[in-house]
Amino acid sequence: MAVERTLSIIKPDATRRNLTGQINARLEEAGLGIVAQRRIRLSLDQARQFYAVHQSRAFFNDLCEFMVSGPVVVQVLEGEDAIAANREVMGATNPANAAEGTIRQAFGESIEANSVHGSDSAENAATEIGFFFAECDIVG
Ligand code: RTP
Ligand code: MG
Repeated sequence: MAVERTLSIIKPDATRRNLTGQINARLEEAGLGIVAQRRIRLSLDQARQFYAVHQSRAFFNDLCEFMVSGPVVVQVLEGEDAIAANREVMGATNPANAAEGTIRQAFGESIEANSVHGSDSAENAATEIGFFFAECDIVG
């Protein structure tokens, strides 16, 4: 066990339904501290760059269009095993398969509009945090 940081995004389907506070409460209840947070509107170029690992996937264009369809909240979470802990509280990609008590089970609308993003490895967490935040923006 080690204290880690991970990048989280509250996606446009969730900001549209005023769920930022409820999602933040679930993150905090899971032991994750919100140590940086900013509400932004992604440009299409930013979305395409952020999700570049998925550029060959059939859902890539739809995903990028969705991510620019409304405001998002980008945030850095900190805590013990934060990367795995966040993935656990998020739930499975498809809300229909997400476990009881997870954010996607509670709030996700579809496999695409699934309310939250979370980094999936330490390496990706570092890259994704650096995409949105400078070290001086993060207050642990
Ligand atoms: P995320 O990266 O957003 O935390 O989600 P994830 O790891 O659970 O899922 P990933 O496979 O990385 O997919 C990234 C996002 O693309 C959208 N997606 N759409 N239409 C589809 O079949 C499909 N599959 C994935 C979702 O918004 C997913 O979170
Ligand atoms: Mg992913």
